[in-house]
Amino acid sequence: MKTVLTGITTTGTPHIGHYVGAIRPAIEASRNTGIRSCLFLADYHSLVKSGDPERMAPSTLEIAAAWLACGLDPERVIFYRQSDVPEIMELAWILTCMTAKGLMNRAHAYKAAVAENEAAEARDPDQGIMMGLFSYPILMTADILMFNADIVPVGQDQKQHLEMARDIAQRFNHHFGETFVLPEAAISETTAVLPGLDGRKMSKSYGNTIPLFLPEKQLRKAVMKIKTDSLEPGQPKDPEGSILFAIYAAYATPAETAAVRRRYADGIAWGEMKQLLFETLDKELRGMRAEYEKLIADPAHVESVLRAGAAKARKLSVPFLADIRRRVGVRPLG
Ligand code: TRP
Repeated sequence: MKTVLTGITTTGTPHIGHYVGAIRPAIEASRNTGIRSCLFLADYHSLVKSGDPERMAPSTLEIAAAWLACGLDPERVIFYRQSDVPEIMELAWILTCMTAKGLMNRAHAYKAAVAENEAAEARDPDQGIMMGLFSYPILMTADILMFNADIVPVGQDQKQHLEMARDIAQRFNHHFGETFVLPEAAISETTAVLPGLDGRKMSKSYGNTIPLFLPEKQLRKAVMKIKTDSLEPGQPKDPEGSILFAIYAAYATPAETAAVRRRYADGIAWGEMKQLLFETLDKELRGMRAEYEKLIADPAHVESVLRAGAAKARKLSVPFLADIRRRVGVRPLG
C-alpha cells in the first residue's frame, strides 16, 4: 500500500482558491481505498513565519475545521497536528546531524533572504535570519520520512524540498542501512490556480482573496467587487481572461460552464454574471459553511479529532523512531 502525505501550514484563513486547488483534490484522493493518506497541520513550520501566539492557535482551528467541514473523513485518513507527534521533532534532530550545511545553503527560501540582505547592503548577509528558516527543509524531511511517504503532493515551490528529502534519506540509508523510503514529489500542473479579486493569483499576500466561509451576505459583497471590464450588456464578451468566468468554471459542472461560455458570446451583463457566480458559490459552500461554523464553535471537538489522529500516527511513529534511534546508536544500555 502506498502512502501519500501532505502538510498544511497553519497560517491564515482558507480561501476559495485553496478549496479548488488543494482541499477538494486531496479529499477526493483520500477516498481512494488503495492508499494510506497522511494529512497534517504543520504548526511547527508556521512557527518559522509567525511570532504571534495569538494568531497561531486560531489559525490551526480554522484550518482543521475547514478540512473537516469540506468532507475530510478522519476515519479514512491519518489527520493530525505535527506538534502532537513529538517523534517528528526527534527525527528532525537526528537528520540535522547528518545533513550537510552546504545543502541547506542552497535552499531557495534561505537564498532569497540572504539576497534581500545583500540588496539592502546589510552588514551581515545572515542578518535577521533564524535557524528555523535555515533548517526548515530538514523538518519537512522529518515529516515525510517519519511515515515513509511514497508520494508527496506539493506545489512547484516545494519541489526543491522534496529533492533535499531524498538526498537526506539516501545519505541516512547509506550510513545506517535501508531505513527510509525515498519520497517522490507529485507536482500537479493541472490543479486550478484561481485568480483573485484583482486578477492576480488569489493569495493572502496580495490581499485579493475571498475567504472560503464568508457569511452569505459578505460572500455576495466580495463577488460584487470582482474586477470586470466596461463592456455593456449585449456586447459579446471573452471568457478567457474573465476572472468571473475562471472562478465559475472551478465551481460549476462542465455542462454549466459550457452554457455560460455561450452566454458570454451572447453578451451576458456583468451584473448578471456576478449574481450567477454568487449563487453557484453559495450553493456549493452553504452546507459546508454551516458545518464549519459548528466546528469553530466547538474547538474541544476539533481537538479530540486531532488527538485521535495523533494516536493513529504515533502507532507508526513510536516504533519506527525506536528503530531509528537504535540504528544511530541511541540505545538502552542493557
Ligand atoms: N512546506 C510546505 C508548504 O509550505 C508545508 C509542509 C510542511 C509540507 N511539511 C510538509 C508539505 C511535508 C508536504 C510534506 O506548503
